[in-house]
Amino acid sequence: MTAHYPAGGTLGAEEGIPLPGTAALIEQLTSEHGPSASLDIMTAPASGRPRTPVGVDAGKPNAARLWNYLLGGKDNYGVDQQVAERMRAVAPDMRRAAWYSRRFLLKAVEDAAKAGIRQFIDIGAGIPLSTGGNDPHDVAEKIQPGVSFTAIDYDPMVFVHCNAMYNHTPSTTTVKADIRDPDAVINKLRMRGMVDFTQPTAVLMVGVLDYVTDDEDPAGIMARLRAALAPGSYLALTHASSGTCRDLMARIDADTVGSTAESVWRTSEEIDEFLDGFNVLRPGLPPVQAWLDGELRPTRLETLAAVGRV
Ligand SMILES: C[S@@+](CC[C@H](N)C(=O)[O-])C[C@H]1O[C@@H](n2cnc3c(N)ncnc32)[C@H](O)[C@@H]1O
Repeated sequence: MTAHYPAGGTLGAEEGIPLPGTAALIEQLTSEHGPSASLDIMTAPASGRPRTPVGVDAGKPNAARLWNYLLGGKDNYGVDQQVAERMRAVAPDMRRAAWYSRRFLLKAVEDAAKAGIRQFIDIGAGIPLSTGGNDPHDVAEKIQPGVSFTAIDYDPMVFVHCNAMYNHTPSTTTVKADIRDPDAVINKLRMRGMVDFTQPTAVLMVGVLDYVTDDEDPAGIMARLRAALAPGSYLALTHASSGTCRDLMARIDADTVGSTAESVWRTSEEIDEFLDGFNVLRPGLPPVQAWLDGELRPTRLETLAAVGRV
């Protein structure tokens, strides 16, 4: 897989000045009528759970927008750019680290599609990059035309972006849902016929459990997902590790506290628990570079990655 490295987002968005696209986004976020291939199954009032994005908050960093900026996307605001640049001051290789995760995600989709999987659930899908070939749906569709692809995210802004991207792709569904309530998500997907859980499915959990705290039971979430999957299913998972450079962890913690971008650093042993019951492929749960071709340098952000089968 050859990754494409688009140019970085531009700095701007001065305080107090309406951000480009914000009015249109708010309009869509508050509209009762979304495109047909989309579903809102948020099971708790947004305010009832901590760190749940509500509408567009341009004053705080946002996990999806921050990641979009690091990947070179254009759908981010000044606050995300500033936080990302402060990360890069400590870890100049942050963008490389973000692209290693993206390449792992695309490679996992490619492998699953080549193995005949025709159903994908991307949990914590994030904002599509729309740079031709760098979104998981592009790769799946290329190998398995007409593939069923369900993009799930709890952020209403991501929901809007995914809807815009996938509006003309009938086999793709955008779902606003919080994976911290896995039973509700699985049941609704099943009841609505969006996912056929009797068939092998590839579940993509790339950079999402980082935002689920221990008391929200990430291992339980994974167990519920695994129990729902048919034999032959795939799991691709990444998680930032506590082996990350200390200065970078301190910078990120300080700059994201109280925002949706606030994340949890976990040890390899802790992340390994999320793979319980999956048949984990070799080389296990190594730094993400180990899954990619070439001699790739370690990055200050250490991301661990695994592929599991059911
Ligand atoms: C770092 S981004 C990763 C995006 C994408 N998976 C990728 O690898 O490029 C994390 C995404 O997870 C979403 N997310 C975080 N917690 C979530 C939850 N409880 N339920 C659903 N989505 C969540 C965020 O909104 C964000 O879009």
